[in-house]
Amino acid sequence: MEEKTERPSPDYGNWVPKRLLGLCAAVFFISAALLAASFLPCVRTSAALRAALWALRAVLAALCCLAAISFKILYRAHRDFSYSGGRLSDKILDYVVENLRWDGRGKILDIGCGGGALAVKIAKRFPEAEVTGLDYWGLKWDYCKEQCEKNAAIEGVGERIKFIRGDAAELPFKDGEFDAAVSNFVFHEVGSQPDKKLLVKEALRVVKPGGGFVFHDLFYRAGTYGSTSALEAYLLELGAADIRMKKTAGEIDMPEYLRGKIFLATGGMIYGTK
Ligand SMILES: C[S@@+](CC[C@H](N)C(=O)[O-])C[C@H]1O[C@@H](n2cnc3c(N)ncnc32)[C@H](O)[C@@H]1O
Repeated sequence: MEEKTERPSPDYGNWVPKRLLGLCAAVFFISAALLAASFLPCVRTSAALRAALWALRAVLAALCCLAAISFKILYRAHRDFSYSGGRLSDKILDYVVENLRWDGRGKILDIGCGGGALAVKIAKRFPEAEVTGLDYWGLKWDYCKEQCEKNAAIEGVGERIKFIRGDAAELPFKDGEFDAAVSNFVFHEVGSQPDKKLLVKEALRVVKPGGGFVFHDLFYRAGTYGSTSALEAYLLELGAADIRMKKTAGEIDMPEYLRGKIFLATGGMIYGTK
């Protein structure tokens, strides 16, 4: 009888990392344990110490509740974003690719490629493309370079993608080195550059004149990017043309709670050509 070999599946991680869920669980269990311990019988104490103990119990109880509520919300979001569950991340990445004005010939850069999901999707969609995925792969996320390379190999596009470590604030490329560039939910995360508009400028710098771009981030958060009209004017100043802006929550079908402030309320896409 012929033996079946199981094909490995890619692991694109999750925008709500497991370690964040782990942190909420740890805070819950530690504060619950300390709360329980605070009720153990102890030597006689003064009234002042007893009052302090009750204050501490109140803080621990509040921490327990906060951690439990955060865990519940984040667990649900983890499931909804998951590539094998609700697939919302996958739908958003499809949307990024759909809005890319590019014929698929030449070189494209994915800034902050995470687990390589978008870079691989682009390589599969455009069989002639040479794709570069760049990320700094910090501790905050469940992503790494080896995982990206493995995913690309599993998806059969490993030959046309390279993954490099780098900083979105200072891209290690020449001006106009790429025919197109994309970036998905990265700029607001970049700690090395507080002015997020400069990250957009840096991303556009490496796109050649006439090249396409799609950037997806919290572009409707006025405190970060200013007004949308000012942002569009800024992009025009940088040489971008045919600019369009769209609100993510208005374009993509998603559970109602994900349209809220802590998730995608200010998410938006800017795309055009340079
Ligand atoms: C929400 S994840 C998105 C990952 C990927 N773009 C996707 O759509 O799956 C944010 C990513 O930004 C990356 N990142 C954060 N700061 C960065 C920096 N300074 N340079 C490059 N990548 C960075 C993180 O490592 C992480 O992979």
